[in-house]
Amino acid sequence: MSSPMDLYEQLTAQGLAVRHIKAQKGNKAEVESAVQLLLRMKEDYKLLTGQDYQAGRPPTHTEDDDSGPAEDDEDDQVNPWNVSTSSAKGVDYDKLIVRFGSCKIEQELVDRIARVTGKTPHHFLRRGIFFSHRDMHQILDAYESRKSFYLYTGRGPSSGAMHVGHLIPFLFTKWLQDVFDVPLVVQMTDDEKYLWKDLSLEDCHRYTLENARDIIACGFDPDKTFIFSDLDYMGASPSFYRNVVKVQKHVTFNQVKGIFGFTDSDCIGKISFPAIQAAPSFSNSFPQIFGDRNDVQCLIPCAIDQDPYFRMTRDVAPRIGYLKPALLHSTFFPALQGAQTKMSASDANSSIFLTDTAKQIKNKVNKHAFSGGKDTVEEHRKLGGNPDVDVSFMYLTFFLEDDEQLEKIRQDYRSGALLTGELKKCLIETLQPMIAAHQERRKLVTDETVRQFMTPRKLLFNC
Ligand code: TYM
Repeated sequence: MSSPMDLYEQLTAQGLAVRHIKAQKGNKAEVESAVQLLLRMKEDYKLLTGQDYQAGRPPTHTEDDDSGPAEDDEDDQVNPWNVSTSSAKGVDYDKLIVRFGSCKIEQELVDRIARVTGKTPHHFLRRGIFFSHRDMHQILDAYESRKSFYLYTGRGPSSGAMHVGHLIPFLFTKWLQDVFDVPLVVQMTDDEKYLWKDLSLEDCHRYTLENARDIIACGFDPDKTFIFSDLDYMGASPSFYRNVVKVQKHVTFNQVKGIFGFTDSDCIGKISFPAIQAAPSFSNSFPQIFGDRNDVQCLIPCAIDQDPYFRMTRDVAPRIGYLKPALLHSTFFPALQGAQTKMSASDANSSIFLTDTAKQIKNKVNKHAFSGGKDTVEEHRKLGGNPDVDVSFMYLTFFLEDDEQLEKIRQDYRSGALLTGELKKCLIETLQPMIAAHQERRKLVTDETVRQFMTPRKLLFNC
């Protein structure tokens, strides 16, 4: 999330904060937690720059120093509110793994998931769309010795319509639920959207119910899935609120400032919100499903923009006597205009929405999808296109399931045999039926079905 210079400045600020707390004779736990944070930041700094932090000496970068960040890399911004890079190929995910301290999903892990489940790995795994993890081997070790786990994912309902990028974690979560046969909790952070956006509480809650229909339309098992609105569940579940408060007590303002970049003028709701996104990672937040057990491990599939919340959660978990949640991170589904940003609901032309008609899909792809093709047909035939920066090709890697067909398209586009218009046609013909089928399934989701999924209740769970 930070460049070396940002991290250097944060470290300097944290060093000052530690001195200040000590000078004020702050209590032992507060000093301890500030010092721990300082030490972790020094480790991050060393990892990022290859240099030891020294107060008063900003990071240096030499031409032949390979351990330092590349130019593009310094531009990569990845956090819950902003994803951007200057590279047309998108975020450098390998460097992100190093910066965030997560682990790459190697072929060995994909093979192990296939072995344990007896199922062909989802194409998101085969193609590296889910590319990073935390503690996935631990989940599999436990699963192999018959200790089950649960899935947790979520959505911030900022509008009535979701875009196809939002589908990525949900489609993958559905596959995980099917192959591992485990329960799932889905947090709808209507409180978060109220705090961050210019929306009324009523709107946010209404969007929760609308978005829940799209999530249900992904095909989750009603006997194993609980979807909840923060605005409703926080007040209804003493166990959930107790966990929120526990997290709030063990994370300082300094820590959330360091992780999320909050400033003094942010409202206090934002500052305490991360504790609410952390709480579903602990099984005893859901007594109706897990009783008072706090030892059922949690696995969180999400895009990597949400990782800051869960770095905080994993840091606090052992200090409040809980297991750290495991994570599976996906790359971003890019904006139509190019992989420099992720698809975002706030720009209608950057996104294909789940409510778009066949005609809208066709127009958006033809008009806005950034092309890696050449300017003229003659040039394209002669020199070929570049699938690595071509948005239509990138979208096909997410949604065209047939590996052989995808590879043929890649080769034909690169060689110039396939033109940009033909590639776009192929994408349009993939997206139109997929979204129409989603809309058909969504129509079948009644108010009663939504109520059923959103009622706190016992789920089928064999531990
Ligand atoms: P939200 O609503 O921004 O996003 C919902 C989920 O979609 C992922 N996502 C994307 N994935 C691929 N490509 C994209 N362009 C793209 N845009 C968004 C997000 O990573 C997320 O997984 N604060 C959260 C809600 C939340 C949550 C969670 C998410 C609460 N608890 C636990 C994941 C896991 C939010 O506003 O997500």
